[in-house]
Amino acid sequence: MTIFDEKIDRLNTASVKWEATKEVFGEADLWPMWVADMDFKPPQAVIEAIQKRADHGVFGYTFIPESTKQAIQAWVLKRHGWSIDPSWLIYCSGVVQAISTAVQAFTEEGDRVLLQSPVYTPFFNMIEQNNRIVVNAPLILENDGYKIDYTRFEDALKSGCKLFLLCNPHNPGGRVWTKEELSRIGELCLKYNCLILSDEIHSDLVYKEYKHIPIASLTNDLSENVITCIAPSKTFNLAGLQASVAIIKNTKLRKQFDETLKRQGYFSLNTFGITAMEAAYRDGEAWLEELIDYLQENKQYALRFLQEHLPEISCVKPEGTYLLWLDCRKLGLSDEKLRTALLQKGKLALEPGSKYGPGGEGFVRMNIACPKDYLMEGLKRLKNALK
Ligand SMILES: Cc1ncc(COP(=O)(O)O)c(C=O)c1O
Repeated sequence: MTIFDEKIDRLNTASVKWEATKEVFGEADLWPMWVADMDFKPPQAVIEAIQKRADHGVFGYTFIPESTKQAIQAWVLKRHGWSIDPSWLIYCSGVVQAISTAVQAFTEEGDRVLLQSPVYTPFFNMIEQNNRIVVNAPLILENDGYKIDYTRFEDALKSGCKLFLLCNPHNPGGRVWTKEELSRIGELCLKYNCLILSDEIHSDLVYKEYKHIPIASLTNDLSENVITCIAPSKTFNLAGLQASVAIIKNTKLRKQFDETLKRQGYFSLNTFGITAMEAAYRDGEAWLEELIDYLQENKQYALRFLQEHLPEISCVKPEGTYLLWLDCRKLGLSDEKLRTALLQKGKLALEPGSKYGPGGEGFVRMNIACPKDYLMEGLKRLKNALK
C-alpha cells in the first residue's frame, strides 16, 4: 500500500471530475477518468502550509514573496537543468489564461497562430475566441508515437504565423519531445520570426526513461523567443488553487505580456495559490518521485489489461503525462457510437478524441492518475462498453 492507494471520497467538494459529468456528458453516475486532475492528496507539506496560512486568519492583498520565486527557480534548475532568474517570472491564474494573454499580447486580430493537432482543446479556443486564425500543422502518428511533419510545419510558418503554441510534453499523445525535435522546430520558428509559447504544464510528469527539455533552455536565441508556461497544478494536483507561472527572459516580451495581463485587470495570485506553490516546489520532490513510480505501475497495468482484454484498442506509447491516448479506430465505430457505448453501456466518462482537433477522431483519452482500484474499475467498464 502507498499513499496513492487511499480512496478519497471527492463527492460534495464541487469536483468537476466527479460531480460535473451530468453537465458535461449529459449523464450522472459515470466513472470519471476524463478531466486532467488526480484523485490524490498533494504532498503533506502543501496541506500543512495551507492549514498554517488559514490559521493565521487574515487574507488581505498578497504579493509573491521572494521565497516563492526562489522555490520556483530552484525547482526548474533541479528538475529540468534550466537556470532562470526570478525577474523573468510572471504569474497567471492558469496556463490557459497565459496562453490567451500571449495571443492578445503578441498577435493582432486576424493574425495566424500555429498549433499541432491533435492537441489540448483550449489551444484552439484561445486562438479563435481572440479572433485569430488557427493554422494547423498536424502531427503524424507512427508506430511508436507522434512525429512532427517538418515540411508541413515549415509551410505553415511560411504562411506567416506570428505565434506557435507548443505542447511539451504533449497532451493528449504523451510525447516528451526530444532535444533534436525541439531544436529543429525552434530553429524553424526563429527563421520565420515566429514566437513560441511552450506549454510545459506536464513537464514534471515524465516517465523515468524520458527527460523533459524546456525548449527555451536550448540556445540563447531560443531563450529570447519563448514564453514558457509551468504550473504546480498538474504536478501536485492543485488545479483548484489556480496558480501558474510564465517564464519570459526577453525583457520586451515580458513587458508586453505583463501589460496585457494588467489590462485584463489581473494583478496577483490567490493567497493560498502562492502558499501551496511555494511549499510544493520547495518540499514536494520526494512525493513526486513516488507519484511517478505509482503512475508507471498504473500505466503498465492498463497496457497489460488492454492487450489481454481489448487487443483491438492500441495505446499510443505514453512517455509523459498521466493520460492514455487510446486508438479505438479498429473497432470501426463512429465517434457517436463510441460515445454512446462508453456512456450507456460502460457508464464511463473519457475525453472524446474529436475534442483535440483533426487526428483525434476514433480516439479517447483516459486519465490514470487514480488509485489502482479505481483504474481497475474503469478498465472493467471500458471492456464492458466495447466488448
Ligand atoms: C496542456 C495543458 N495546458 C493547460 C492545462 C490547464 O491549465 P490551467 O488549469 O493552469 O489553465 C492543461 C490541463 O489539462 C493541459 O493539459
